[in-house]
Amino acid sequence: MAHLQAESVSKGELRLCARLGLDEAGTQSLLAAMRAGVSSRAAVVLTSRAPEGYVPPFACEKLDAEWLPPHVYVPAAGEKPTSYPDYAEGFYYSLDLSSCWESACLAEVERPATSLDMCAAPGGKTMLMAARFGGQNHTANEVHPGRRGILRQNLQQCGYPDVEVTGFRPDQWARHGHTFDLLLVDAPCSGQSLLCKGIKNPGCLSSSMVNGNAKRQKGILLSAVQCVAPGGHIVYTTCTYDPEENEKVISYILKRVPGWSAVEVASLSAFRSALSEFPAYRLLPVHGFGAGGFCCLLRKNN
Ligand SMILES: C[S@@+](CC[C@H](N)C(=O)[O-])C[C@H]1O[C@@H](n2cnc3c(N)ncnc32)[C@H](O)[C@@H]1O
Repeated sequence: MAHLQAESVSKGELRLCARLGLDEAGTQSLLAAMRAGVSSRAAVVLTSRAPEGYVPPFACEKLDAEWLPPHVYVPAAGEKPTSYPDYAEGFYYSLDLSSCWESACLAEVERPATSLDMCAAPGGKTMLMAARFGGQNHTANEVHPGRRGILRQNLQQCGYPDVEVTGFRPDQWARHGHTFDLLLVDAPCSGQSLLCKGIKNPGCLSSSMVNGNAKRQKGILLSAVQCVAPGGHIVYTTCTYDPEENEKVISYILKRVPGWSAVEVASLSAFRSALSEFPAYRLLPVHGFGAGGFCCLLRKNN
């Protein structure tokens, strides 16, 4: 740890790397990525507005990644997909590649008759879901009114006028008693991966921030499990690294709620978390596919 000490590593950084079980090389690599802030990697997902057979007008990289979801393209270095008129036309939606990674979970799921994106704004996961399954009978929910407006605008621009936009809290959904075949829970989190994109996120490594988010995530998932039909699934994702907001949240749910299991995602086997006995997946900047995140596919047994 000699040269990390010289750079005065914070308590929060050390705590995170210890919780992740990183060795010295892994610690160096993650902290370097957090400080450099250049791990962003752009991607675009085609929308329902894209004409039949459409390919983006910019140069793209051919990514050798089994998990790459359908209709996702990776712009070549130096390309700015948002600067093309096709972007304004809504032919594609722009997001970080690591936000596409977790939608590999959807490959394990049959086309849902009904689906709910419980934390949907600004709309990335809904677009990825729609690119795979179509946007029929999909509800995009966002509690924050301002963000709900942006969600609505993005869905409109990308050609999903039929996606219902709602603004209920997870506990209201649970009380409502309506069930779906598929729920996306892209949970609000401490957002530690933002540091690797060069976005300031003060306090994201502090215990209070991490524990506060973990408590909220457990509450959201406890509501979410009540909204899934037998045989249905939840994709739980975050864009943070701390196990307290990831594996520990899933572990809490699996212990507390009978009839649920975590499901293997074949195309993500290289990203299998070593921090849980159940299948869960972690992406770190060192993988080279963006800033990183966590995902776990949960199934409600029949
Ligand atoms: C990580 S963002 C979702 C990003 C979105 N899924 C996408 O791909 O574009 C988390 C969202 O959860 C919302 N949120 C915050 N607190 C919440 C709560 N208690 N219950 C449900 N959603 C919440 C936030 O407003 C935010 O829009």
